[in-house]
Amino acid sequence: MKLIRKIVNKIAYRLVPNLRLLDECEDSIRAIMPVKENLQLGGEFIKINYPTQLRNVAIGNYTYIGQNANIFGTKIGKFCSIGPNLICGTGMHPTNGISTAPMFYSAENKSNGTTLCSKTKYEERSLVEIGNDVFIGANVVILNGVKIGNGAVIGAGAVVAQDVPDYAIVGGVPAKIIRYRFPDSQVNELQKIQWWNFSDDKLKMVEQYFYDTDKFISECKCQ
Ligand SMILES: CC(C)(COP(=O)(O)OP(=O)(O)OC[C@H]1O[C@@H](n2cnc3c(N)ncnc32)[C@H](O)[C@@H]1OP(=O)(O)O)[C@@H](O)C(=O)NCCC(=O)NCCS
Repeated sequence: MKLIRKIVNKIAYRLVPNLRLLDECEDSIRAIMPVKENLQLGGEFIKINYPTQLRNVAIGNYTYIGQNANIFGTKIGKFCSIGPNLICGTGMHPTNGISTAPMFYSAENKSNGTTLCSKTKYEERSLVEIGNDVFIGANVVILNGVKIGNGAVIGAGAVVAQDVPDYAIVGGVPAKIIRYRFPDSQVNELQKIQWWNFSDDKLKMVEQYFYDTDKFISECKCQ
């Protein structure tokens, strides 16, 4: 079938040279088309910048995702700011087998177009969970199965191989804790308040007390 298509194309290109140009344009367009499979959107204020590849992803309201994201098997909370070029949950290959090529251990993953395996021997993916109000800088890689807490910040260029605690700022390869955004007492209160679940009207408090965390916490307690 492929051979017939090749011959037909060759003849057609000879007869109408511009056809080749058209085909090349179509290939380029396909390359920048967004891939979205099993995408669950949790609200109307979610922005996804293209090009992008999202497979088995759930996204909370008020979250935006920068250009060129490749995200697989991931649950993302609300109010997350995700910088460009995120690679997240792309799966793992076994390192203790004779080969790392999927065709020997995966019945489903035919990455190179074929497999010798009838029963999968290795679990390639596990869920990545990104909390609420998480800021992810540019060019970050988040490995399989990692959980990122609420309010965390991931520095530009980080490779996140381990779970990140709530409100921690991490950076580097592998990512390590640089500092926390707030002292423990405030982190505990913010975790209890869970402002990301406020009604639209109550959300105005976040804007109102933006730089006064203590006042915000005390006002929330009064309500
Ligand atoms: C991680 C980040 C938020 C840290 O901000 P910060 O808390 O103000 O940190 P500072 O600039 O005070 O630096 C604190 C320490 O962390 C280091 N550091 C800062 N950013 C880092 C990063 N991305 N990776 C590794 N280390 C980093 C600094 O070198 C400094 O180290 P030192 O204490 O040994 O001198 C910030 O540097 C960052 O990476 N922002 C992302 C920007 C981005 O990608 N924007 C695009 C979004 S659309």
